[in-house]
Amino acid sequence: MDLYSWVKAAHIISVIAWMAGMLYLPRLYVYHADAKPGSELSETFKVMERRLLRGIINPAMLATWVFGLWLAYLGDDWREGWLHGKLTLVILMQITHAAYARWRKKFAEDANTNSAKFYRVMNEVPTVLMIGIVILVVLKPF
Ligand code: HEM
Repeated sequence: MDLYSWVKAAHIISVIAWMAGMLYLPRLYVYHADAKPGSELSETFKVMERRLLRGIINPAMLATWVFGLWLAYLGDDWREGWLHGKLTLVILMQITHAAYARWRKKFAEDANTNSAKFYRVMNEVPTVLMIGIVILVVLKPF
């Protein structure tokens, strides 16, 4: 049994779940922003957003960190430039995640002030970060 490969498999599975949520949640916000506060549609979005964030995105983010740091430990990668670059982008992903959580709370309180267009633009942030992260870890350019 190759522990490193098992941890890497677990890391990739967690990353897929985290990214799936990070790409889907702002899509819900795009439609939620145009729904009338208090309407049945708006209340349905609230349930979907809470379950997606708490049930999938948060645990998947934690698992990504645990397995990613475990890989770095097993591979003794701490001095690698690609890891420093990758972690910088992962921290930006983490900040985006925190912003998503803040906006979910606003929606839950019927206090959203951002437009659907704003969420459409914010939807691109995790996409761009993910592309950079994968290029850094697979190509290891430095
Ligand atoms: C949360 C902090 C993270 C840490 C500490 C971390 C660390 C690592 C390490 C050390 C490896 C092993 C590299 C190798 O075997 O060559 C790895 C693999 C990988 N990571 Fe992460 N990672 C993190 C988050 C992410 C995120 C957010 C993504 C994607 C958006 C990601 C995507 C990948 C992929 C695709 C691989 C497999 C690369 C390969 O096999 O060539 N990681 N990660």
